[in-house]
Amino acid sequence: MSKQTLTITDNRTGQTIELPIEHDTIPAIGLRQLKVQADDFGMMVYDPGYTNTASCKSRVTFVDGDRGILRYRGYPIEQLAEKSSFLEVAHLLLFGELPAAAMLTEWNASVMAQSQIDRSLRELLKTFPAGAHPMGILISAVAAMSTLYPDSKQVHDSGNRLRQTVRLLGQLPTAIASAYRQRLGRPHIDPNPALGYSENFLHMMGLTGDAEIGPVLARAMDVLFILHADHEQNCSTSALRNIASSEADPYCALAGAIGALYGPLHGGANEAVLRMLAEIGDTKNIPAFLDRVKNREVRLMGFGHRVYKNYDPRAQIVKRIAYEVLEVTGSNPLIDIAVELEGTALEDDYFVSRRLYPNVDFYTGIIYQAMGFPVEIFPVLFALGRAPGWLAQWMELMSDAEQRIARPRQIYLGEAERPYPPINERG
Ligand code: CMC
Repeated sequence: MSKQTLTITDNRTGQTIELPIEHDTIPAIGLRQLKVQADDFGMMVYDPGYTNTASCKSRVTFVDGDRGILRYRGYPIEQLAEKSSFLEVAHLLLFGELPAAAMLTEWNASVMAQSQIDRSLRELLKTFPAGAHPMGILISAVAAMSTLYPDSKQVHDSGNRLRQTVRLLGQLPTAIASAYRQRLGRPHIDPNPALGYSENFLHMMGLTGDAEIGPVLARAMDVLFILHADHEQNCSTSALRNIASSEADPYCALAGAIGALYGPLHGGANEAVLRMLAEIGDTKNIPAFLDRVKNREVRLMGFGHRVYKNYDPRAQIVKRIAYEVLEVTGSNPLIDIAVELEGTALEDDYFVSRRLYPNVDFYTGIIYQAMGFPVEIFPVLFALGRAPGWLAQWMELMSDAEQRIARPRQIYLGEAERPYPPINERG
């Protein structure tokens, strides 16, 4: 077998070092041996946006962006979306295995048993101004849970981690639904633990639909949550790992992750896509809109991905669900615009040459709208689906002996030392 090392020669000095290769990576700290002067700090890597930096070893989710592959704990996303339930997938992400039947029943019951939220949290949810964005409310609600459950600070106790995880999975849908109904001036609906996770969420939102369409909507919601459940070291998961690396409690870490998810380049894209489709308004306006994209006036939201340079496998499943849901709820003209926009973009050299394909957010908004969700709540649905992945990544981080507090370096380009000027001598 060939030697598993990388030899690097520093042409400034002629110094050669040999670094071990493990899993196609080299330890970044090894580069620090490269110095021009003995008292230099040593070589670092410069990687804005972490495009080529592995920050952890993980066993949760595998993504191959070139081949359009996504697997949770080894299981292809297509099979999980077809055969599994959201809480079953949450168990898989958190514990590494699909539960046997009795274990699944117990797991579902333990999460649903946590679905009541504290009275003071309900009161807090009433205090936000009319028109407050639901993501801001969700961040505040999750951060407030840190004050309600101070035992969550015992982050090195694995039993405690599990307790907080189950509590979060149980309470998040209730907090979201309660805040949503509060905003509309409608009464809070108590959770019904006898229902499935997604069915109960739609019940608390007051969006169950009639007897015929209700089960279709509940299954669609469950599958959408499965598709969002984890996506390895993305912006929000990295934010969560960074926060949790300081041993902050999981509520604060999750609130930070939701903040990262809020932006339109990440989980806020589903909201932005729907607004974009509404702005395009008619298929005849697509060419003019794509010209604006190519002139860099706007981005084609729901397209492109840091990792996928092929069709996002989640987007294909979401597109299928969109048709299934619209079949029972009635059509939405935005789907025709979305399909034609996708087709036109995929034949255009601008998108082809940059390998830009629809991502998970391209079609989700159309489904959420058909279910009756207002557009500003779409990113909250992403957050609810992503919760088990964040928590699985948190558990993995906390039991990883190689992890330390996250603390990147910088290249300092500011002023060298200079004397402090008195105020009357400043320009
Ligand atoms: N519309 C137009 N051009 C784009 C787009 C887009 N959506 N995405 C990338 N490009 C261009 C970009 O301008 C650049 O072109 P050039 O090399 O000529 O300057 C090239 O493609 C590479 O783009 P990038 O911005 O360097 O890629 P990135 O990996 O830094 O960004 C992204 C990834 C997802 C932020 C970006 O593709 C984007 O802004 N997409 C729209 C927002 C979106 O849909 N986000 C949801 C992501 S999937 C769900 C999630 O996990 O959050």
